[in-house]
Amino acid sequence: MIRSVRGVHDILPTEAAKWQRVERAARGVFEAYGYAEIRLPLFERTELFARGIGEATDIVQKEMYTFDDRSGESLTLRPEATAGLLRAYIEHGLHVQPKPVKLYTLGPMFRYERPQAGRYRQFHQLDIEALGDDHAALDAEVITMLVELFRRLGLADRLEVEVNSLGDEASACRPRYRAELVAYLRTRADRLCEECRERTEKNPLRVLDCKTPGCRPVLDGAPVLGDFLCADCTTHFAKTREYLDASSVRHVVSPRLVRGLDYYVRTTFELTTTELGAQNAVAGGGRYDGLIKLLGGPPDPGIGFAVGVERVVQLLPDAGSPAGAERRTPRVFLIPLGEPALGRMLATATGLRARGLVVEVGYGGRKLGRELERAGRLGASHAVIVGEAELERGEAIVKEMASGAQRVVKLGELAEQLLALGGRA
Ligand code: HAM
Repeated sequence: MIRSVRGVHDILPTEAAKWQRVERAARGVFEAYGYAEIRLPLFERTELFARGIGEATDIVQKEMYTFDDRSGESLTLRPEATAGLLRAYIEHGLHVQPKPVKLYTLGPMFRYERPQAGRYRQFHQLDIEALGDDHAALDAEVITMLVELFRRLGLADRLEVEVNSLGDEASACRPRYRAELVAYLRTRADRLCEECRERTEKNPLRVLDCKTPGCRPVLDGAPVLGDFLCADCTTHFAKTREYLDASSVRHVVSPRLVRGLDYYVRTTFELTTTELGAQNAVAGGGRYDGLIKLLGGPPDPGIGFAVGVERVVQLLPDAGSPAGAERRTPRVFLIPLGEPALGRMLATATGLRARGLVVEVGYGGRKLGRELERAGRLGASHAVIVGEAELERGEAIVKEMASGAQRVVKLGELAEQLLALGGRA
């Protein structure tokens, strides 16, 4: 037997109802805030992610599914949606629209990570990006929208909003901080794990994210980015928090919240829970003001986030009644006995379905008893039996499954009669 690939999962009909619920809620919230859907390819040129996410990140260094296609071009399965969405924004000149241009997308992402609970190699994100505006009110609106999504899913109370400002490369506050941090870490390298020592040289901010207990004392004493912010970044962060307060969005400042992608500046945020073990972030995002230009577009600022759908679904209680994802209970089960009746019943079924009934046809050529048993197992309220004799007389037998009561109906009136039996299924 061929099994699915490690870290990749099927979403079975029993779970699909929850997925649909999350997606419906997301579309509803995003659209209310003015976001339009964009659908993007699953693979892009490798260079897009190397440039966009950052050469020094774990994602680009170790986690991408990269391959040469038959013409020798290097392609990569998207590890996230932001880079591809910005590529489309630039390529199609979407920046001429009124700003901020607000877009959302959803679908699978691919990262070669070590699979564990809540961490997969194929996973799904709901992603939004707001492009072309750098007002702090937009930062607050984006975070408010994220919280609103979880409020509608009944999960807001189980999550914490963590925010931080990463400063800005352009205004020199982050370079100054980075230099300070590297100097601090280098003098304490003997008390850091190998990965931290490596990151000190390649991607020092990520050192703060290390989960190795032995590194904690050094990291806890490290300089904090917040103390280095320039005046503009300080104001932007203060304003963002003020607008969040005005929108009644409870949040905490996490001075050590650094993200795994290099493009962030200023506001970053995560939605975290204590209920999912080590993989505690259900969503993350932030501002990336230099990225569109870096990818060859106009100098537009931007901000966005992505929600990890698997992690959200895990938090949702099992739905009592599946909302449309599972096989639906048929109202009518049609049982033609013999070929001529089968042709006639297929046409009848199409007509009934077009009028809103859930209809199944027993086309298996089984005996009447077996077909009635199947109609019962599927939960049909009525079975319709048409044998050769009935067909000749232009009639059908309508059987109420619960009582067993039968009556004869003219074939020409069958659809109306069935529709009258109890409205729509
Ligand atoms: P990210 O933090 O890498 O950000 O991913 C966002 C969310 O996707 C995470 O909080 C988590 O819930 C989920 N996620 C990430 N990796 C996995 C995995 N291996 N298995 C299951 N879930 C996972 C981004 O991807 C940015 N593009 C977000 C963004 C949009 N920033 C600005 N705009």
